[in-house]
Amino acid sequence: MANVVVVGAQWGDEGKGKIVDWLSERADVIARFQGGHNAGHTLVIDGVVYKLSLLPSGIVRQGKLSVIGNGVVLDPWHLVGEIDKLRDQGVTITPETLMIAENAALILPIHGELDRARESAASMAKIGTTGRGIGPAYEDKVGRRSVRVADLADDATLELRVDRALVHHDALRRGLGLEPIDRDALLAQLREIAPKVLEYAAPVWKVLNDQRRAGKRILFEGAQGALLDIDFGTYPYVTSSNVIAGQAATGTGIGPGAIDFVLGIVKAYTTRVGEGPFPAELTDDVGQRLGERGHEFGTVTGRKRRCGWFDAVLVRQTCATSGVNGIALTKLDVLDGFETLKICTGYELDGETLDYLPTAADHQARCTPIYEELPGWSESTEGARTWADLPANAIKYVRRVEELIGCSVALLSTSPERDDTILVTDPFAD
Ligand code: GDP
Ligand code: IMO
Ligand code: MG
Repeated sequence: MANVVVVGAQWGDEGKGKIVDWLSERADVIARFQGGHNAGHTLVIDGVVYKLSLLPSGIVRQGKLSVIGNGVVLDPWHLVGEIDKLRDQGVTITPETLMIAENAALILPIHGELDRARESAASMAKIGTTGRGIGPAYEDKVGRRSVRVADLADDATLELRVDRALVHHDALRRGLGLEPIDRDALLAQLREIAPKVLEYAAPVWKVLNDQRRAGKRILFEGAQGALLDIDFGTYPYVTSSNVIAGQAATGTGIGPGAIDFVLGIVKAYTTRVGEGPFPAELTDDVGQRLGERGHEFGTVTGRKRRCGWFDAVLVRQTCATSGVNGIALTKLDVLDGFETLKICTGYELDGETLDYLPTAADHQARCTPIYEELPGWSESTEGARTWADLPANAIKYVRRVEELIGCSVALLSTSPERDDTILVTDPFAD
């Protein structure tokens, strides 16, 4: 049986949620493996909108197991709030349908505070984070001072973990002019939330390996996008986790051999939210028009997303770093009505042509895009469900994207609705 990893192949918001929801019909288990509630995944099912940040997008389907892996940083209060919100929308969530890795690190209120204090400190260049404590929580994980899910079950351990974190955080907070942490209040908050998290706690690595052995299909749901990866992204304007497909293995405890197909989610143009380099960015009317047609506002923070033409250089690169076997091309309909379209095919840097994004920040900043122009189409592709519904120039555009990135389209999405999706190659096919 095939297991599929879904990863964002740009700067996030490619439409992963919609595609994971669509694919989850074919899967038995849906697992998140990195990030946290910095993600914002929007699903539209028969006109009903579901917004997920922490829970896997498979949660809205009955009869599936949703899993939050150890690679995720988990805000317990947000978790409980998101579960409640979905229950209000009629989604059933029980310890049989949701499992959380016992070894996942927690995001505490002090992480969010630190994240926001750093972002607003005049002396530091802003990253444009979501302010949800993601970076500080991963720092504590690597620094071996996290409170993990399993620690919530034993009060003595919980106190030890909290004390270890406080030594470090109080020193940091002094430097930022923040009040010292109220230890007792933090412990009381954690004791109060503990049972609501522990009911879902499980040895996720074991559950997934057992499921795999039983022939179940696992769909790994990435958050963010490969250009926000801590190693391969536009550092330091990145998130604090590995986002690329390899992380699906370490972020859940299943071996890399379990991954049979990597599906890269690719938007038909480019967007980015937050600071950082963006060679094909359009700050003119065209960028504005893409943003308006694509409703490009962040799900988590409501910020306007920056928009630009499709950048084939970047996607070719992210397809390589994630070993992408096929892509899901989304939001093709947003390009309807443009007379001409442009695709970035290379960069010019100091008189040389590059076919990849260089690593050095000053080089990235000085890369100017080289474009090729393609004819647009005036017909609507919105809601198209077969290739035959697509205008000839839309098909030409898709074919050119495939050629330039060196990867085929497995799925094509033409609206936010679940079923407005064209299947070309089934990623789950054996
Ligand atoms: P994610 O973070 O990758 O899951 O993406 P988001 O949900 O943050 O952003 C994608 C947005 O585009 C959401 O509002 C989706 O409902 C919407 N969307 C997804 N696919 C399509 C599509 O093919 N066409 C259009 N017009 N919107 C889409
Ligand atoms: P989904 O899963 C788009 C961006 C933030 C910021 C940087 C670091 O919806 O695609 P962080 O809070 O993670 O420390 O912020 O990463 N970012 C995202 N951008 N989509 C996301 O998730 C993102 N998650 C983080 O805007 O630039
Ligand atoms: Mg998003």
